[in-house]
Amino acid sequence: MQNYLENPALNPFPWYRKMRQTDPVNLSSRYYAWQVFRYEDVQRVLTDWNIFSSNFSGGTGRDPLSASLITLDPPRHRQLRNLVTQAFTPRAVALLAGRVGAIVDELVSPVLPTGRMDIIGDLAYPLPVIVIAELLGIPARDRERFKRWSDAIVGADNSGVFDPQREMSQYFMEMIELRRKEPQDDLISDLLRAEIDGEHLTMQELLGFCILLLVAGNATTTNLIGNAFLCFDEMPEVIGQLQADPALIPAAIEEVLRYLSPVQQMYRRATQDVELAGHPVKAGQMLVAWIGSANRDESQFSEPDRFDLTRTPQKHLAFGHGIHYCVGAPLARLEARIALTYMLDQMHNIRRDQSISLEPTGSSLVFGVKHLPVHFEG
Ligand code: HEM
Repeated sequence: MQNYLENPALNPFPWYRKMRQTDPVNLSSRYYAWQVFRYEDVQRVLTDWNIFSSNFSGGTGRDPLSASLITLDPPRHRQLRNLVTQAFTPRAVALLAGRVGAIVDELVSPVLPTGRMDIIGDLAYPLPVIVIAELLGIPARDRERFKRWSDAIVGADNSGVFDPQREMSQYFMEMIELRRKEPQDDLISDLLRAEIDGEHLTMQELLGFCILLLVAGNATTTNLIGNAFLCFDEMPEVIGQLQADPALIPAAIEEVLRYLSPVQQMYRRATQDVELAGHPVKAGQMLVAWIGSANRDESQFSEPDRFDLTRTPQKHLAFGHGIHYCVGAPLARLEARIALTYMLDQMHNIRRDQSISLEPTGSSLVFGVKHLPVHFEG
């Protein structure tokens, strides 16, 4: 296979274009929801929280994720978010750079002498889970279980043989109790100490946050790194440009986020009857905001199907927009930058192993491939 574009499951872009042009807001029987394809409408649906609620499951509060940032509306959302953003400011995250570099080296240096690696399995998959596990204060021996849980929740493991939220909740409850008795220098201990108006977070909220970090931060970052290499496979000249001038790497990461957005869609639920681009959305109906399509909207990006390292302004919606804008964006950018810088410095003449066909993640939410084997020279 030449590159990922030949697999229709990895090339939704012509369909997005058609929908933007012919049916940009439509009621889909597949998703039982309004599908939204144009940049302006996607941005509005993501941003206008009064009308398009994130509490799309009806929020019984019984499962921990329904008590987490991503499914809450203001005012509770604002309160929780204030607690959390402190841990993820660009400054706080920059302090992690040394540790992220060491983990990248630990993962990649063993495969360097072999001249081949699986970008996903050897690096992009384990890196974010190790970083988040360390942030939370999780022992190294439990990392594998973590990865399995977060995959199951985003749909990469749809075997249905276990209930990841139950297992995870059980695990974190024990962990939280341990930290309550003996605080450490980690995020769980910080969250236990945190107060909103004199009140501590509830166990449900603590659990929801731990689980959300695993779910929101792992498969997404994995696929950002993987998708960068899909772009390089499609446009091999970009590797040379980045090797000649590594200062371009942050811009390349932004363009990967736009061009092959790791999160293709987000959901909302209408709180009231509203008109969206001339269509009558009824209170209670769901909406799918197609971020992957918004980021290719020709009314916002010139030559949207061209990968452009110098694109300005770079106003992609890959991390969302408005009050739910991704808390982990600085961390994801840092991990991707350090991983790419390391690989482009240590590996030359990188090319994909074409004998192995590309397999999509299997989730309509997360765009990327399960494995990405490459050859290179040291
Ligand atoms: C390339 C990697 C990533 C992408 C593409 C991504 C994408 C997104 C998007 C689109 C949203 C908005 C959801 C919405 O509007 O409903 C979001 C929210 C969120 N992300 Fe990320 N994310 C990434 C990495 C991370 C990481 C590394 C973490 C944490 C360690 C993280 C934690 C969160 C959290 C907690 C929220 C919820 C924020 C809120 O509701 O206020 N994400 N992310």
